[in-house]
Amino acid sequence: MQDQTWQAIEIPDEGGATVFTLSIAGAREEGFVVRTRGKLHAYINRCPHNGSTLDWMPGRFFSEDGEVLVCQTHGALFAPDSGTCLSGPCPRGLTPLPLREEEGQLFVPSILDAVE
Ligand code: FES
Repeated sequence: MQDQTWQAIEIPDEGGATVFTLSIAGAREEGFVVRTRGKLHAYINRCPHNGSTLDWMPGRFFSEDGEVLVCQTHGALFAPDSGTCLSGPCPRGLTPLPLREEEGQLFVPSILDAVE
């Protein structure tokens, strides 16, 4: 994975998420960052089942109990700290994205050549 350009985005609260857009190999994609147990994790907002976005409304990714990420299309469940598929029709986990925290700011890529 090669990152080229970074953008600053809002740091999500615990159990929350921040959605952003980026370019991957020239294609526009959506990404999101979640905070769970105090740690931040970034993924591409594309379900590995059929490619839809996970959130039913912008920024709503967590289950009601805040334990897992839910794809709102067919209910696949993902671990928020790894993106691993826990149950449902997902054939694999979410695609992770890099992030950086510096001096109280959160940076995610705005342009990537590719993801693994
Ligand atoms: S598109 Fe996500 S579970 Fe089907």
